[in-house]
Order: sequence, then structure tokens, then C-alpha cells
Amino acid sequence: MPVKKVEKIWMNGKHVNWDDAKVHVLSHVLHYGSSFFEGIRCYKTKQGPAVFRLGDHVKRLIHSARVFRAEIPFSYDDIFEAIVDTIKINELENCYIRPIAYRGYEDLNVNPLKNPVELTIAAYEWGSYLGQGAHESGIDVCVSSWRRSTPDTTPTMAKIGGAYMNSQLIKMEAIVNGFSEGIALDVNGYIGEGSGENMFLVQDGVLYTPGIHNGILSGITRKSIMTLAKDMGFEVKEGSLMREMLYMADEVFFCGTAAEITPIRSVDKMIVGNGMPGKVTKQMQEAFFEIVKEGNDKYGWLTFLDGKERILNMKQVK
Ligand SMILES: Cc1ncc(COP(=O)(O)O)c(C=O)c1O
Repeated sequence: MPVKKVEKIWMNGKHVNWDDAKVHVLSHVLHYGSSFFEGIRCYKTKQGPAVFRLGDHVKRLIHSARVFRAEIPFSYDDIFEAIVDTIKINELENCYIRPIAYRGYEDLNVNPLKNPVELTIAAYEWGSYLGQGAHESGIDVCVSSWRRSTPDTTPTMAKIGGAYMNSQLIKMEAIVNGFSEGIALDVNGYIGEGSGENMFLVQDGVLYTPGIHNGILSGITRKSIMTLAKDMGFEVKEGSLMREMLYMADEVFFCGTAAEITPIRSVDKMIVGNGMPGKVTKQMQEAFFEIVKEGNDKYGWLTFLDGKERILNMKQVK
């Protein structure tokens, strides 16, 4: 789905016209993947438009940059407010938000330390990531021949541009072979995640999810599902999961800001359960959509654009 152009993009402290939001071709980021970014959703809930877990996303953005010794020249509060302003100025309600910090133009040495760190925030309308009907019918996926990075190569807890070369290999391999998405194993052969999603397996009513040591991004949706599931009385187990569990599970689903909660109906052409979204998956979808669609949020995860909850949700980064 192509990006749907809106009026303004926030760049280094001010809103510029969409078509003027440009970087120099010799920017460090273009050559070496030196960017730190987030994917965030704003929902048109029944109680007004609200951003899901904005504070956690801003925190992860700052932390991802910090791993690479990049100091974003804007504070947590500045970024938080700039995101809200960018949605509002473009009169968006249901949208995807993409803040990206990157090493800009100065030197073309691999050493990034002299290059400025810049920040841009775009917001635009966006629908279902894994295809229409994916939430209702589920998707067909494969186990990728590409692995996720090892803990001592590219840090997977940091959401960084360069790491998405690995994601692209996983995604392309899946697509050209007729699947919607690939599941990458970690370096030891345990289940990792999709190219842009975390995952859960359900077996005998217990939810299993790979641990953050399994080469995955520490997803905000994943954490939310763990909280929701525990509060709903489910047992949730986090840790190294064997590949064959994918073929034995009653239910498997992807989760993420883009994917939300997407059931998986087959893995490597083996049907999961009865090939339909399972009971637990549906319960998790209901609990999640109760928050982001109905606006019923007892967790303080929503930042309403009208401002009434905004201040409450502004948690400082320590
Ligand atoms: C590789 C990868 N894993 C997991 C996720 C899910 O993370 P979140 O729920 O924070 O969007 C994403 C999406 O950002 C991702 O790109």
C-alpha cells in the first residue's frame, strides 16, 4: 500500500511541506543504515482519537539511538508533543506514525560520531499491514532460511534501520515463495519472530512467546498482550521455543503495531489448529480492540489527542 501523502512532516523542530521533507544523498544514514525509528498507531476510538502507548515508543526511540551513541537533540517531552502535533496538524485520526532519527550529512566515514543526529516525524493513513481479511481469516507463513542476528552482532532490542536488511531478506523470501510472512529462528534455532512482528503460540490454553534473548525486538504490542493475557487469567510463558512447537501448537499469532494481532493459519503449509483463528487468539484480539477501538483503557495506554489524558501519560525517561 503506497504511503498516502498528507500536508506536513515535522523535521528538526518545525513542520515543513510534505514534498520538502528531504535529506542529502550523502547523509550517513543512506550509506550505513544509521537510523533509529518507531512505528506507532493512532486509533479513532469511540472516545476520540488516541495514540497507543506513545510514551513507550518515544522511550524505545531514545534508547535505540543511545545504543549507537546517538543523542537525539530533542527531549522526551519534545518528541512526545511533536508526534501529537503532527497528527493534529494533518487532521488525522486513524493513522500510522513514523518518527525517525538518523545520522545526517557531514562526513562519509563509517565512524558516525561527527555526523549530526536529526529527527523527522511523519504521519499518514494506513490500513491492515498483512493484507485485507488477515485479522479475520489468518495468514500463511513459512519458517525462513534467514536467521535473526546474534546478540553480539546487530542488537535486536534497538529498532534500527540497518537491522531491517535482515527483515527484508525474511520478507522477500516468504513473498516469492507464496507466503505472507516468514518466521526467523534465532542463531541457536529457537523461534524468533517475523520480519516485523513478534509472535505467540497457544498450546493447551497456555500462551508461549520467545524471550528477548531469542534475537527479537522487545515489542510493545507483545508486552501489552502479555499483560492482557495474564489479567484474563492465562498462563504466559516467555522463553526459548523449539521450532517444532509451531507445528504442534493449537494456535499461532503474530503481533505488532503494524500487524496488531494477526492469526496464522498455516506454517510451512501445515495447518494450525483447524485453519481458523483460535479461541484464545480471538479473545486477545477482542481485549486489544476493546482498548484501541472502543477506547476503554484501564491501563493508561492511550494518549487522547484532545489532551485530557496526555499529561498523565507523559512519563519521563530515567
Ligand atoms: C522486527 C520486529 N519485531 C517486532 C515488532 C513489533 O513491535 P511493536 O509491537 O513494538 O510494534 C516490530 C515492529 O515494530 C518489528 O519490526
